[in-house]
Amino acid sequence: MSDQNLSILIKTHAGLERVLAREVRQLGGREIKEVRRGVSCKGDLGFVYKCNLWLRTAIRVLVQLDSFQVRDEQNLYKRIKEMPWENYFAVNNTLAIDATVFSDRFRNSLFIAQKSKDAIVDRFREREGKRPSVELREPDIRINVHIQKHICTVSLDSSGDSLHKRGYRVEVDKAPLNEVLAAGILALMDWQGKGPLMDPMCGSGTFLTEAALYASNVPVNVFRKKYSFQHWLDFDQKLFDTIFEAALAKENANLPEIRGFDIDLMVLAKSRRNIKNALMEEVIKVQKRNFLNWPEEETVTPGTTVVMNPPYDMKIEADIPELYKGIGDSLKRHFSGCTAWVFTASAEGLKHLGLKPTKKIALKNGKLDSWLVRYDLYEGSKKNQS
Ligand SMILES: C[S@@+](CC[C@H](N)C(=O)[O-])C[C@H]1O[C@@H](n2cnc3c(N)ncnc32)[C@H](O)[C@@H]1O
Repeated sequence: MSDQNLSILIKTHAGLERVLAREVRQLGGREIKEVRRGVSCKGDLGFVYKCNLWLRTAIRVLVQLDSFQVRDEQNLYKRIKEMPWENYFAVNNTLAIDATVFSDRFRNSLFIAQKSKDAIVDRFREREGKRPSVELREPDIRINVHIQKHICTVSLDSSGDSLHKRGYRVEVDKAPLNEVLAAGILALMDWQGKGPLMDPMCGSGTFLTEAALYASNVPVNVFRKKYSFQHWLDFDQKLFDTIFEAALAKENANLPEIRGFDIDLMVLAKSRRNIKNALMEEVIKVQKRNFLNWPEEETVTPGTTVVMNPPYDMKIEADIPELYKGIGDSLKRHFSGCTAWVFTASAEGLKHLGLKPTKKIALKNGKLDSWLVRYDLYEGSKKNQS
C-alpha cells in the first residue's frame, strides 16, 4: 500500500453523501466524487488512517485492491485466488468477507462471500500449508467484494467494525440514534460548533456528545481502540501515532454551552455515563425536565440551536398528536429567536407541531423514512403560528 494514489471508497448513510464529501475535502482527499451512500476519492495510507480517525459521517473506509470483469463463480474464484493476499495480511489473522451483489449473473451475496473466502484460504493453504480462520463477529481483516453487473471490485476494509462505534457510548436507551447519523444531522444543520446547542429530549445523549466532539475539534474516534488496518502487514504504527498526536494538538478548548434534558431519569443516568466516557462532563449539562412543561421563568438564550429526536411511536409508546402539539407549543412559547431542528420518522407528528418549516430534508433512520425539519422561531411565532 505504498501507493500515493489509493482508490478509496467511504461509505455512509443515504442522504449524508454531501456532508461526507465536505469532510473528505477538508481532510485533504483528492478526486472526490459523491456516489450512492458513499464518497470515492484518492489518497495515501496516512489519509486512510486520518479518514478512520476524523470522519464523523463515515461508516467504513474501503481501499480498493482490484477491479475486474467476472463471468461466473468459477471465474470469480480464480481471479480472487490470483490476488497476492499474503502481501496484505498474515495467515494467523482471522477474516470475514462482506459481499454485495447487484447483478443478473450473480444473485446470492452469501454464496459470493463463501466463494471468495474459499479462494483466499485455498491460496494460503497451498502456499503456506495453513489457512486463516473465518471469524464473523470480530475479524482482524475484513474484505469487501462488490459485484455490479459483471464488474467485481475487491477491497480491504480499513475500519473493521462500523465507525459509528466511537468507543464512548456504552449505555443506550430504547431508541438511540446512530452516532454517524447524529453527526450527519448536525452537519446538515450547518451547526458550526459555536453558538449554544440544546437537545430537550436527549435520550442517551448522542447529539450532545457528537456536538461537543465536533466543537472541540478532536477526532471523533479518539476513544476507539481497534481498526482493521492495524492488522495489515504494512501497518505503520509510527505514522499512525504521528497522525493521532497531530490531531490532538488541534483541540479547541473554547466550547459553547451544550445542554440536554429528558423526562426519564433512568435515561439521563445512561447519558451521563456516555458523556463522562467522552470526557465531556464539564461541557455538557443534562437535567430531568418535561419539555412540555418548560418553566415559565426560564428564558432561553436567543440564537440557541435546538435539535431533537422525539419519540415516533415505534420503540417508545407515545400519543403522537398530543406529544407533537406540546412540543410545538413549548417551542413557540419559550424559544423565540432560536432555530429548532426536529428529526423524526413520524409524518403525522410533524403535522401536529403547528409550526411552519423553513427546510425539510428526507433521510432514513435504519429502514424508516425520516425527516429533518427546520423551524425558525421568530419573535411572535406564538401569535402568528398558533
Ligand atoms: C427517540 S428518543 C431520543 C434518542 C436520543 N436522540 C439518543 O440518541 O439516545 C426520545 C427521548 O425523548 C424522551 N421524552 C419523551 N417525552 C419527553 C418529554 N415530554 N420531555 C422530555 N423528554 C421526553 C424519551 O425519554 C426519550 O429518551
